[in-house]
Amino acid sequence: MLNYKEWFKRSLGLFTGVVMLFIAINVASSEENFHIDQFISPDTCSGCHSEIFEQWENSMHNLAHKDPVYLRVAQFLRKGLTDAGEIKEAESCVKCHTPVGYVTGFPKKLTDDLSKTAEIATQGIQCDYCHSVESVKQMYNNGLVLKPGQGEDEPGLKYGPFDDSTPDFHEAKFSRLHTESEICGTCHDVKHVAFGTEIETTYTEWKNGPYNSKDSKKKITCQGCHMYQRPNFPATGSTKRPENPGAATDYSDERPHIFTHYFVGGNSSVPGKFGGQGKTRMAVERLENAATLFVDTSRISQKKLDITVTNVGAGHSIPTGVGDLRQVWLEITIQDKDNKTSFQAGVLNDRHELPKDAVIFRTVFGDGKGNPVINIAKAKQILTDNRIKAKQSITEIINLLVVPKKESLVIVRLLYRGMPQKILNLIPGKPIEPLPIVEMAKVQQQI
Ligand code: HEC
Ligand code: HEC
Ligand code: HEC
Ligand code: HEC
Ligand code: HEC
Repeated sequence: MLNYKEWFKRSLGLFTGVVMLFIAINVASSEENFHIDQFISPDTCSGCHSEIFEQWENSMHNLAHKDPVYLRVAQFLRKGLTDAGEIKEAESCVKCHTPVGYVTGFPKKLTDDLSKTAEIATQGIQCDYCHSVESVKQMYNNGLVLKPGQGEDEPGLKYGPFDDSTPDFHEAKFSRLHTESEICGTCHDVKHVAFGTEIETTYTEWKNGPYNSKDSKKKITCQGCHMYQRPNFPATGSTKRPENPGAATDYSDERPHIFTHYFVGGNSSVPGKFGGQGKTRMAVERLENAATLFVDTSRISQKKLDITVTNVGAGHSIPTGVGDLRQVWLEITIQDKDNKTSFQAGVLNDRHELPKDAVIFRTVFGDGKGNPVINIAKAKQILTDNRIKAKQSITEIINLLVVPKKESLVIVRLLYRGMPQKILNLIPGKPIEPLPIVEMAKVQQQI
């Protein structure tokens, strides 16, 4: 005789079984859904590719799902929305920030219980994700088409840059796509899923810029800068980008160049919180070799200062990516002979916020009626975009209130931080500590 509890348990089991079968059928018929067990953990890859693993570990790709700044901002932007299009956008983040989870069915949206994310999917943009990419079906919002294997027992093909590779664990196949900017670009171009607004345009900026040269000797792909960088070699457009000779595994033959996997951009805070201090230093090195400053004081008697910023190192605009959040700005100080400040602009207040009139290079989104919005979910238009394009300059005319005294010192700094403190201060809960400020360039000139 079955007691009630047993009966209930068994029925539940049967019911779950039917549901699972139903899900399985659905999964099989939907092209984007794979099983989580098909993906191999980066730890397994590290068994042979240990150096590449250490470079990737604690990179922003590894941390894309765990990044506390992303998580806090994403939850904050989602709160209180009622418009269907805005909600759709605010839920869409996981497609790029947790891609292995997304293609295996969980999480499908931001408000899913992220604590239930499978361990492997919490590891962000990872080895087996990128190296299972077979093609690209759309050049924005992550249009990658994957062909993963069947887990460790049957790892299948790993696509990569070599055409003569004969690994023992997995099969290997040359993929031209992996040598081109497109494999990066489909995630690094973000469009609002409902309104079509171009939210991030790193790939498009590169595609329309000077580094996408028709002359193959002059062309520099994303990988040509970002996968040549290593400590002391920032590998930007204004520095050397020497090859990185070495072996792809702990036991393979040497090759002239092994692409590095640090994936360093401007983020000099988040990797350090996860033990990746080396990467935060590399982000500073990258930012220090991105732009130059030129200060023309010849019109100072007319109370004018002409400051020119040139993008000499980035293959896209400065800043790029989340160009509405990143802050690149001019801090200007004029001191007279006695060290007394006679003029100041772009100096943070004691809440770490910038004054309204600071010169900031960034994108400002609007609500479709001309009003600025900080929530990308509400972005229907681009109101302004004064970011500095690759190999181009912008000259800012600064109006001084008085003519500075003779022998004054003009100090101009180009500064970078990941996000306005004003936004961080709006996020409820535990305060987010101020993000580090990096000096990209500095000019000091006596007048
Ligand atoms: C964001 C996508 C991405 C991630 C994540 C990634 N790779 Fe790569 N990997 C690439 C690309 C692209 C290349 C080839 C670059 C080129 O040819 O321009 C490459 C090259 C390689 C190569 C060939 C040797 C070399 O470095 O040149 C190996 C081996 C490799 N990756 C292993 C790994 C392992 C192991 C991991 C995880 C620890 C990993 N990759 C994570 C994109 C990625
Ligand atoms: C048992 C050792 C071993 C493991 C584990 C391993 N690989 Fe490899 N892999 C190799 C060897 C050996 C090569 C060939 C290196 C060469 O040709 O220089 C290679 C080459 C590659 C290449 C280059 C292929 C090409 O044609 O360009 C990629 C990409 C790659 N591995 C990705 C991965 C990924 C992703 C993982 C984890 C899912 C992984 N490997 C796990 C041994 C291994
Ligand atoms: C000529 C070298 C070069 C090329 C090519 C290049 N980058 Fe960059 N990248 C830089 C430099 C320098 C920085 C730091 C300055 C900055 O943040 O813009 C940077 C920063 C970044 C950042 C962080 C931006 C921020 O401020 O948050 C991302 C993301 C990025 N690059 C992605 C890409 C992608 C994707 C491509 C290809 C479509 C690419 N890069 C091509 C040099 C390059
Ligand atoms: C699956 C989508 C995806 C692919 C493919 C991808 N990226 Fe990324 N990448 C991201 C996301 C998401 C982040 C941001 C994570 C964060 O800040 O929380 C990021 C961050 C970065 C950063 C660090 C930015 C910073 O602020 O420091 C760089 C550099 C970068 N990617 C370069 C590349 C390059 C080069 C490639 C191609 C080899 C590439 N990415 C391919 C999604 C992707
Ligand atoms: C199509 C791919 C894609 C989607 C979808 C996406 N992101 Fe990102 N996200 C990126 C890339 C690429 C970067 C890195 C750009 C950079 O460094 O400036 C990034 C970086 C960020 C950062 C900066 C993190 C830091 O530590 O500074 C935040 C915040 C962020 N994303 C929030 C979101 C939110 C919120 C959503 C959903 C509404 C979202 N993203 C959806 C690709 C994506």
